[in-house]
This record gives sequence, C-alpha cells and structure tokens, in this order.
Amino acid sequence: MQRKQIYTTVEKPKDLFKKCFDFTLADAIKEQGIYPFFHPIDENEGPVVSFEGRKVVMAGSNNYLGLTSDPRVKEASIAAIKKYGTSCSGSRYMTGTVTLHIELEEQLADFFEKERCLLFSTGYQTGQGIVPTLAQRGEYIVSDRDNHASLVAASIMAQGAGANLVRYNHNNMDDLERVLQKIPDTAGRLIISDGVFSVSGEIVDLPRLVELAKKYNARIVIDDAHAVGVIGKGGRGTPSEFDLVDEVDLIMGTFSKTFGSLGGYVVGEDKVIDYIKHNASSLIFSASPTPASVAAVLTTLKIIREEPQLGERLVANTDYVRQGLLKAGFTLMPSRTAIVTVLIADQMKTLHFWKRLFEAGVYVNAFIRPGVMPGHEALRTSFMATHEKEHLDKVITEFCTIGKELGVI
Ligand SMILES: Cc1ncc(COP(=O)(O)O)c(C=O)c1O
Repeated sequence: MQRKQIYTTVEKPKDLFKKCFDFTLADAIKEQGIYPFFHPIDENEGPVVSFEGRKVVMAGSNNYLGLTSDPRVKEASIAAIKKYGTSCSGSRYMTGTVTLHIELEEQLADFFEKERCLLFSTGYQTGQGIVPTLAQRGEYIVSDRDNHASLVAASIMAQGAGANLVRYNHNNMDDLERVLQKIPDTAGRLIISDGVFSVSGEIVDLPRLVELAKKYNARIVIDDAHAVGVIGKGGRGTPSEFDLVDEVDLIMGTFSKTFGSLGGYVVGEDKVIDYIKHNASSLIFSASPTPASVAAVLTTLKIIREEPQLGERLVANTDYVRQGLLKAGFTLMPSRTAIVTVLIADQMKTLHFWKRLFEAGVYVNAFIRPGVMPGHEALRTSFMATHEKEHLDKVITEFCTIGKELGVI
C-alpha cells in the first residue's frame, strides 16, 4: 500500500507586507538630504509660502489664478460652513446633496456651454466615475500614453470589468488613427485625453483628435484640469481654445487648480450625465464635496467670469519665465500654458537641483520615476496670476546660477 506523503514547511508562508519592509528608496534619498516630497507648508500667501518659518517663492502650485488666498473666496467658504456645517456626511445619492451643489452644477453647465454638469468629490474620482461607467465589457478605451495617472487608473478599473484598453503614442494622431482602425466596428469606443498634459503643459491636438473621432464614430472625454482659467475664451479651456466645444462629448476637470478648492466636475449632454449620475460608483459610494469647497468654487467661478485680466496676467507671467529660461539655454518641454517644465534627464541631478533651489528660496516640483520615464526627469514649474515680477526674476536667477553650477546649462 502506498503511504500518503505529508508535506511540512519549515518557513512561514510569504508575508504580504515584505515589500513595505524592503522599501528603502525614500529613506536613502532622505539620508542625502535631497528628498523633495511631502514638505509641510506652515503658511500660504499664494506666490510666497513658508516652510518651517522660511519664506519661499512658490513656483510649483496649480493655484493658477492665485484665488486660494482671495478674501472673497475665504469668506464664501466660511459663510457656507455657518449655513450648512462642515460636511454633508453622505453621498450625493442619499443625504449629501445641498442646494449649493445644484447651484454650482447649473453655473458650470452654463459656463462650459453644455447641457448639464455633475460634481464629484475630487478630479481623480471624476475620471473613475466616467471611464468605467461608460466603457463597459467588450468596448474600447483609447488613451494617450501620457494621460494623467487618474485616467490611467480609471481605465485599468474598466479593463478589470471587461473593457479593452488600447493606448496611442503621446499626442500622435497618426498613431491614434492606427489604433482606431483596428477596433471592430461592433464595439463602442471612448477616446480619453488630457486637454493640457500635466507634466509638460503641452496642449492636445484637439482638431485632429475630433476629426478622427468623427471618422471612427468614437466618443471623446477631455480632462481639462490644467486648462481652465489658462486657455480658451474667458478661460473656458481646451475645447473652447479650438472652438470645438460642441464636438467634445464630455469635458471633465478639477477644482483643485484654477478653481482654488477641492472637487471635480464633468459637463456634457443631459442623458449621458444622467446615466453617469445613476451608475458611477465613485459618486454613489463616496461623500459629496463639502459646502465650504463648493462655495469657494461658486466664488472663483464668478471671479473668472468677471476678471479676465487675471488670465492675461497668468499668461504674461508664465511667458516671462519661459523666455528667461530659454534664453539662458535650458531645454523646456513644449508648452504655452501655465506650466514650464525644465528637462534635466538625470534622477540625481534633478534631486540635487531641486534641493539647491529650495535652499535658495524657490519651490518647484521634482519629477522622477515613477512619475516620468527614465531619461525624462525634470523640474516642473508653474505660475500664478498673482506672482510679482520680483518673484519671477528670483526663479529665473536661481535657475541660472544653479543650472550653471550643476552643468545643466
Ligand atoms: C490632468 C489631471 N486630472 C485629474 C487630476 C486629479 O484632480 P484632483 O486633484 O481633484 O483629484 C489632476 C490633478 O493632479 C490632473 O492633473
């Protein structure tokens, strides 16, 4: 008779947390004093912020029109807290809708010249609410390779539920056509792209994208997080910039940049917004934007409408720095928006450059892996309407001094 073999293991089964205990990269960078992330700001005036009591020119914020510190915006938030409290304590679906939400949805639909608007609690959740809700089993998501991480995550979520995800080379419309040609006629397709790409500040080639969407009967979502208040008529963003508002099916964005608050939105056709509203998991199962956040946006939206000179100043400020850095010999990523990204193309040099700028009183964002591909390491700067010339000159001067010392220029 054959004896049953009994297996015994001396070692315990694998610990899921092993990866966490083995993760040393952040500590190694901290030890060298060049860690560029999670530094707490202890006071924020907009163009100048304070880190541990030290004043620094902020050249890395998405507070493009400088409205987060506008007294009118602060007052509106305080008044909303007094009236509605600090939280809605529930999702829009259930007890979490207040009249302010409806008012803002109506005003944003009007501003973006679309039938209807739906608010979400963050821009990240907006993408999660649109993409997996619309692109279902067997249908296709066609995504730019450089889209924001939130759209990537939203697409992977949809893929997990059976949708197909295909990517095209960054802003390359020939490659988009190649990808569209391969999709079976029987499958629905959704093209998703940033309007203004968040790392480089480059603008999508929307006229050609729209042309291809029409030719291949695809629907379009544009994530205009970095475009509102910056480009388009009266700051209405990328579709408006190209006079293509009617041709873009859904425009989404965030309140965490120009709108000076927190939350997200999508605007589009009545029936499509209604479908998202009743099916999007990230809307139905998450608490609604706070009254203070919504009231802030109602006020910043009014300012954007009434004070177009802010957008003009933002463009002039950004252009001033762009020209200064180009003249000094830096390599910049292609952009005419509020983002000026300086290519360094070396991880350690990027971190050292970041630290030297910080010590000299200029805060920028260091983009290293996994945020960008190896060889594309960069310092991303972004500007505000409220920066004064002295702030901008400081940024240019410090970049030039340190750039020369580190052999970047
Ligand atoms: C293009 C883009 N989409 C979406 C988001 C996410 O927005 P939020 O900060 O509101 O979650 C961002 C923010 O970084 C972004 O840059």
